[in-house]
Amino acid sequence: MKVAVIGVGQTKFGEEWNKSLRDLAREAGQEALKDASLSSSVIQSLHVGNMSAGRFSGQEHVSALVADSLNIKAPSVRCEAACASGALAFRSALHSIQAGSSNIAIALGVEKMSDLGVDQTTTTLMAASDQEWEANMGATFPGLYALIARAHMHQYGTTREQMALVSVNNHKNGSANKLAQFPFPVSVEQVLNSTMVADPLTLLDCSPITDGSAAIILASEDYVRQNNIENPIWVAASAQGNDTIALHDRSSLTQMDSVKAAAKSAYEQSGLTPEKINFAEVHDCFSINELVAIEGLGFCNEGESGKFVENGEISLQGSKPINTTGGLKSIGHPVGATGIRQIVDITKQLRENSINQLNSVSNGLALNVGGSGATAVIHILTNQL
Ligand code: COA
Repeated sequence: MKVAVIGVGQTKFGEEWNKSLRDLAREAGQEALKDASLSSSVIQSLHVGNMSAGRFSGQEHVSALVADSLNIKAPSVRCEAACASGALAFRSALHSIQAGSSNIAIALGVEKMSDLGVDQTTTTLMAASDQEWEANMGATFPGLYALIARAHMHQYGTTREQMALVSVNNHKNGSANKLAQFPFPVSVEQVLNSTMVADPLTLLDCSPITDGSAAIILASEDYVRQNNIENPIWVAASAQGNDTIALHDRSSLTQMDSVKAAAKSAYEQSGLTPEKINFAEVHDCFSINELVAIEGLGFCNEGESGKFVENGEISLQGSKPINTTGGLKSIGHPVGATGIRQIVDITKQLRENSINQLNSVSNGLALNVGGSGATAVIHILTNQL
């Protein structure tokens, strides 16, 4: 069954001291409902992406909290796969419509991370890794991705400058984004000279700690036709790939099998090939992850992503524009909300009202990654049925 996105909403991302978890969810959800010209009473199911409100905000039972904040009485469920929780919530909403249990559903991602100090936030995030073999040994996410970066540099000759260019591209695209946490451009020199976080990754290679929420209304083809919905954006593929939770158990440090498995399935479902993808939202929690993702998605050969970025292929004018509104690096990364935010921005591009509108695009791909790559979720959307 065909399913469409018919409404989107997003709060400003950043350190939102004056807003609670409930406030953020309400704001994004209400905006998505308004965008779809609907009231909350028509929603038949709610799917919430949230990684760790229990630890970040002391709040569990988040699906009930979000339903309450939007006055939704329909069944609600929480989906968790670390930083891929948002895309998983979207996939859950899609499945509920495809299974015929709802005609119209809302997928909403929310996270409020900045109420803890950076040490506690880092410990909380590390709960998404292998607690016994990674977190307990003192590894952090910047540390794990630094291992991937060093291995990529060693194996393929990828340079620090090429990695920095990912942040440069994403900050440039995010500088016009009023909803972004860090809407300013950065240079290669600034990235290289910013504070070292985990060698070779500096502050400006890292996505920040962020509060925020994003929401999407999904509807069945029947609902779209019966209600004459204008400008629906169709889901052409939804796929998930998984790998070992710990980095040391993987077949390769420099490639993500979860991304490759999800990409294979998404391309098969949509009938598209990597060459046919017009643009992509890619999970740049650290600059190196965007390079690994570009290879896993088949946009270039293994080991050639550094050159791909250096040649300007990912810029707005390039052959494969990536993170056209700023990515996690510039917009921010409220972990449970990011996967939804990526699809919100793809929808805006396909509706031709993005802040950095691309010419003649008919499809876009979103890749949301959980942990150091144990979970990868891909969606492809299109404005042509
Ligand atoms: N990018 C750009 N600027 C950043 C930033 C980032 N990622 N993080 C913080 N800043 C800025 C702050 O605004 C602040 O600027 P100011 O001095 O002008 O106010 C300055 O840098 C210092 O900020 P601070 O809050 O003290 O940074 P921090 O040391 O507490 O945190 C990191 C920096 C990189 C450690 C933190 O953002 C982090 O852990 N990021 C990774 C999050 C993560 O792992 N997510 C999951 C991915 S799998």
